[in-house]
Amino acid sequence: MIVAIYPGSFDPLTVGHLDIINRAASFCDTLIVAIAKNSSKMPLFTVDERLVMIKDSFRDNGRIEALAFDGLLADFCKGRSVSLIIRGIRGHSDFDYESSLAFMNEHLAPEVQTVFLLAKPGYSNVSSSLIREAASYNGDISSLVPAHIIPQIKKKFSVSNR
Ligand code: COA
Repeated sequence: MIVAIYPGSFDPLTVGHLDIINRAASFCDTLIVAIAKNSSKMPLFTVDERLVMIKDSFRDNGRIEALAFDGLLADFCKGRSVSLIIRGIRGHSDFDYESSLAFMNEHLAPEVQTVFLLAKPGYSNVSSSLIREAASYNGDISSLVPAHIIPQIKKKFSVSNR
């Protein structure tokens, strides 16, 4: 039984994340999409809002779960018998950070392997922060996030612009 985790901020979930999640789910029994609560970033969406976004995207796939966690990813993996950490790599710029993260996670939990999936070329420049920025100026982000999330993004910016 392979339990994998795909951790991140998902603020918001993007088509690039969906691609990684679908591909990772094809080679594990359970995939936990996990929102790290202790991010130093100032999120646009609350953890609960992001959890609902992920759950709504994968309602039909009982092998994909959405959870949030506090503290170290390595500890969360140990507590949940997770054997694989999935991370997406979009290009050279992700590599240094991802290799340091994998090193630290390997140090803290040697029994857990990190697996990198290369983003598909069309998704290699997609990022949540650029989507937030474009949306804040009413830019068209409709092909970059799942359709059900678009009204939630629009609502955030219409509220914050009042
Ligand atoms: N498609 C689209 N975007 C992608 C992507 C993909 N395939 N892969 C990464 N990204 C983007 C995200 O949208 C995000 O964009 P942004 O910075 O513009 O908002 C960026 O890449 C990185 O985000 P994310 O993958 O969410 O990583 P993170 O740096 O926010 O968080 C954790 C990484 C959660 C794995 C890490 O902080 C963690 O494990 N925290 C818990 C504490 C811990 O154990 N730390 C490590 C050991 S000390």
